[in-house]
Amino acid sequence: MSQPTPNLPTLSQPGRLRTEHLSEAFGITIVRPRLSWEPPRATVSQTAYQLLASNGWDTGRVASNAHRSVPYDGPELGSRDRFEWKVRTWNLDPDGVEQQSDWSAPMAIELGLLHPEDWSAQWIGPDEQGIKDQQILRPGERPGYALHAGFTLEAAPDRARVYATARGIYELFINGQRVGDQQLTPGSTSYHSALQVQAYDVAALLRPGINTVRAILTDGWYRGTFGYTRDADMYGTQTAFLAQLELESNGLRTTIGTDASWLVSASEIISADLMEGQHTDFRRLGGRNMGTAVLPEAGFDTLTGPLAPPTRIVEELTPVAITRVAKGNQVVDLGQNINGWVRLKRLGKPGDTVTLVYGEALDADGDVTQDHLRPLDFRNPGEFLGAGQVDSVIASGAPGETFEPRHTAHGFQYVSVQGLAEDLQSEDIVGCMVQTELERLGSFACSDERLNRLHEIVEWSFRDNACEVPTDCPQREKAGWTGDWQLFVPTAAYLYDVAGFSRKWLKDVRADQWDNGVIANISPSPGPAVTRSDFMAFVNGSAGWGDAIVLVPWEIYLATGDAGILAENWEAMDRWLGFVRESAAQNRHPERAAATPIPEAHEQYLWDTGFHWGEWLEPDGPEPDLHAFRTADRGIVATAYFRQSSAIMAKIAAVLGMEREAREFAELSENVRNAWEQEYLHTDGQVGDSTANGASQANCVRALAFELVPESARPAVAKQLARLIRDAGTHVGTGFLATPYLLPVLADNGHLELAYELLMQDSAPSWLLMVDRGATTVWEDWNGIGPDGAPKASLNHYSKGAVVSFLHRYTAGLRQAAGSAGYERIIIEPRPGAGITSTNTSHHGPHGPIDVAWDLDGEQLTLRVNVPPETTAQIRLPGQPGSDVGPGTYRFTAPVGGFDHQRELTRSAT
Ligand code: BGC
Repeated sequence: MSQPTPNLPTLSQPGRLRTEHLSEAFGITIVRPRLSWEPPRATVSQTAYQLLASNGWDTGRVASNAHRSVPYDGPELGSRDRFEWKVRTWNLDPDGVEQQSDWSAPMAIELGLLHPEDWSAQWIGPDEQGIKDQQILRPGERPGYALHAGFTLEAAPDRARVYATARGIYELFINGQRVGDQQLTPGSTSYHSALQVQAYDVAALLRPGINTVRAILTDGWYRGTFGYTRDADMYGTQTAFLAQLELESNGLRTTIGTDASWLVSASEIISADLMEGQHTDFRRLGGRNMGTAVLPEAGFDTLTGPLAPPTRIVEELTPVAITRVAKGNQVVDLGQNINGWVRLKRLGKPGDTVTLVYGEALDADGDVTQDHLRPLDFRNPGEFLGAGQVDSVIASGAPGETFEPRHTAHGFQYVSVQGLAEDLQSEDIVGCMVQTELERLGSFACSDERLNRLHEIVEWSFRDNACEVPTDCPQREKAGWTGDWQLFVPTAAYLYDVAGFSRKWLKDVRADQWDNGVIANISPSPGPAVTRSDFMAFVNGSAGWGDAIVLVPWEIYLATGDAGILAENWEAMDRWLGFVRESAAQNRHPERAAATPIPEAHEQYLWDTGFHWGEWLEPDGPEPDLHAFRTADRGIVATAYFRQSSAIMAKIAAVLGMEREAREFAELSENVRNAWEQEYLHTDGQVGDSTANGASQANCVRALAFELVPESARPAVAKQLARLIRDAGTHVGTGFLATPYLLPVLADNGHLELAYELLMQDSAPSWLLMVDRGATTVWEDWNGIGPDGAPKASLNHYSKGAVVSFLHRYTAGLRQAAGSAGYERIIIEPRPGAGITSTNTSHHGPHGPIDVAWDLDGEQLTLRVNVPPETTAQIRLPGQPGSDVGPGTYRFTAPVGGFDHQRELTRSAT
């Protein structure tokens, strides 16, 4: 190893100020927000800080190295309060000398309306009873309404805010200009417990004289069709809108709120639905007057400010091709599968209908096909429901008319534009990528272009499924499936700041939890009263899905070091574990009971009953039969998650200082582990159960990743896994749950080369097959696109993409040390393979950016790293003992010899 020389840039000011993980804290409703900043780049550690706020709060110099989640402690905050805060720090430089930083740039915090009494506005809605043609009120086909009012101002106000929300989706316009750039507001939450209010600064939109305010209101998540089953009216049957415009001049506030004087009219939106699409007739702009608004019963108790960043159009894509196919339709190819809609400027002749059919794949004629996206109709077995995703527009002929269906969202790469005689040009249509605006934290690139492409398509799949909540897929379901986020969150958290995003979602998961502790499969959902009585209620409470309530907060804690997220979710986790423990202790699988009437002692820890999705979608697996799942014995999977979640609970309890619980969960976890071993580790050292699929790759992976088998048994299980992979022709055999762990457990258990062989495999099933077949997002099924080009199931599920964390943590070699949170202690251990000659990765952790790059020149490895302040890195080079370094940039060289692998946990560090 060459002598490392720390090389530090000069001290400047702290940066990346955050309030409750948010970079925009406008309209928040947290009265003691926690503040975070990043130490100045040049420093080694912080010795003190000073926070200064424009409302007079001044901490003075506080001797502390804290720079994350420091609670605001200034004057008590009330509704509408606004202040700016900034921070300066004292830090040790590399010579151990304390230096004072400059002040940071300020961050503004503005509170929204905190109390129901702050609202003088009333909820308003259209009088749908008065609509004669009930046909029009069919779910999926309901119209958008315009709600409007006018008011006169003597002068433009000094300050103007609007607080707005809806039961449905709303867009707001003042004097014809759209308010703000957020999309799909008020966003998706479990509305019975939380409804987000957006706050907007609208001073620039107002003028002296007459002003108009107009909202467009559509069904959205509130009562539109939604999810696999296309249920409608999930939260209620009446849409409603609420807005309060507050104007301040010379210290006096006037309020204009929604009330019964607002007028309602039909809008240009003939129908809008998140699944079905949006139909707009511009000839109806300023449409039929429907009288004044009605005042629906709706309270103010659930109103809340944002916990997550807002949803916006984050990117616009120009078509890579526009082709007219035989039927005359014009097929627009964006070159990328996205979530959102198109903006269309060429609308054809006034009165003509132009229809847009959105999809991810093309049929044999080159037109968009949606057949693979049609869900089974559980209410009518054997039938399929429609795929939706169809918009249409009728032009009025007004100059500059543009169609942008912002009251729906689609998952698509292609759009079949139908009914347009004129040839579309690429400037006529643009793809709008709609996503929660997440800050990028991580990157990866290497010398292998196909792996780089794999990394890109995984990122796209994630981003396409990061609209308001983590979803399974942006087209067929748009649903916040717990299992999907559970297994992908470690990968996502490396690449993006998903702390606020996950925290908002977890709030819904908690609200949707049943009183017996079951975690609903999908959140947001209408809550226990509805999900428990649903005809498909039995599918809730699955291992690997419900465990999200434990595993997601834990991963966010590891990424951020914010233990608050653990505390917030502790009770819900504990109740979930209560349900699992109870299920294991009280119930025996009927076949087990028939075979051995008297249970053995360890069986109280076996979770072998209840509905489980199991590993889910392994290659060549049978078509899922949900009713058969209900009675299947999935003890080998469920008990593994029981072990993993209880082990993580022990760690969480320790972080929270709950010693008794930490001990109890550690003991429980060991008992469950022991039960798993007794049942599923056979005397010949092989993993399996009584079913044909028990000895699967996935079960071997879990045996190793969740430490279900004793140390002495690991080599044999690793060998079994390797053999199963070889027996499959060196192919992956895992589905959803075990895929993130597959390559890591191979690497950690002496089979690094096999891990690389699997990664580089490009015959079916494999990751690179997706790349080779032109995937732009990750497929749900391993055989998403067949050899004939035919699509199967969704082409945009991120789960299998979790493999890329192997590239970050093993190939490039940047991972967090066991026991560290917030990237305080990291391990840098490059593990080259597969002929890769160079890689670089970075992760912007809470202390600053960590960069790792290596290249191989013949037999020599050169490694360059940047270690941020407050961080120690253990550098592990081939064949050498680990060495610890502190903040700075370093260059190391080493001959490539045998790597001395140390087994680390395979998820993030635990
Ligand atoms: C979803 C998944 C989900 C699963 C449950 C599917 O329909 O798309 O991603 O986790 O059901 O197994």
